[in-house]
Amino acid sequence: MNFENILAENDDGILMLTINRPDKMNALNKKTVQEISQAFDEVYSDPGIRAVIITGSGPKAFVAGADISEFEGLSNEEAKALSAMGQSVFNKIENCPKPVIAAVNGFALGGGCELSMACHIRIASDNARFGQPEVKLGLIPGYGGTQRLVQLIGKGKALELLMSAEMIDSATALNLGLVNYITSPEELQAKCRELLGKIMQNSPYGVKKVIECVNANFEDGVDGYKKEIDAFGVCFGTEDFVEGTGAFNQKRKASFKPLSN
Ligand code: COA
Repeated sequence: MNFENILAENDDGILMLTINRPDKMNALNKKTVQEISQAFDEVYSDPGIRAVIITGSGPKAFVAGADISEFEGLSNEEAKALSAMGQSVFNKIENCPKPVIAAVNGFALGGGCELSMACHIRIASDNARFGQPEVKLGLIPGYGGTQRLVQLIGKGKALELLMSAEMIDSATALNLGLVNYITSPEELQAKCRELLGKIMQNSPYGVKKVIECVNANFEDGVDGYKKEIDAFGVCFGTEDFVEGTGAFNQKRKASFKPLSN
């Protein structure tokens, strides 16, 4: 996969997706968001990709937001289209059938915080900073931030961060449940891989169904309990079920095949 603003490299089944505009703090211009979308099309369709780690290039930033330089002169309709485009790409990440971890290696502001929240799990280096500073710009988050922040940390704290535009450090993010773990910058990738290693030993089909059912909890008009019943039923008889239960009965380690389409 060749892109202008992102690096995408399959490392032993894990797609390392690096937002690569370090001189602009990896700000998400339109092209970068489109490239992330294309990369995720590959993730969905390529059985050789079993998980994703998203990070930012350079030592300072994960992603410092949407690219503010592209905001000037946008009409109301164009701004709505930009927000809708960003949301649809971030929804694609959230609904990815394979695990996606954000390795937050510095500033995760605005669209960067939103990008990390679209991932299934966030692991941060101790120099990471999170925030939704849009109200300082006379704006609000447009890539799902007002919704996902509430889902992850609750209404009161979400409103505080969104209205105050304050940045929080990684320890505070850990306390709030915004991130799962903190590491040193040097250990960040290894920690993401360690966790993915555990997840990737399990049934890829089961993992995909867990993602679907958990996401259903936040979908309007969808009964997550019903979805869980259906998904539980569908698991029976799958190759993964046969292998997983067979391995248990034979007292051996299960060996699952990658998800096929
Ligand atoms: N959009 C466009 N460019 C951005 C950017 C963004 N969101 N964030 C940083 N940059 C650019 C800066 O304009 C600067 O470019 P230049 O060298 O051509 O002037 C470069 O990245 C380096 O940023 P700089 O501000 O000099 O670094 P810093 O270490 O002093 O500060 C931040 C880092 C992240 C605190 C600061 O860049 C910042 O506040 N960025 C905007 C955050 C934001 O409001 N995000 C929400 C957007 S909706």
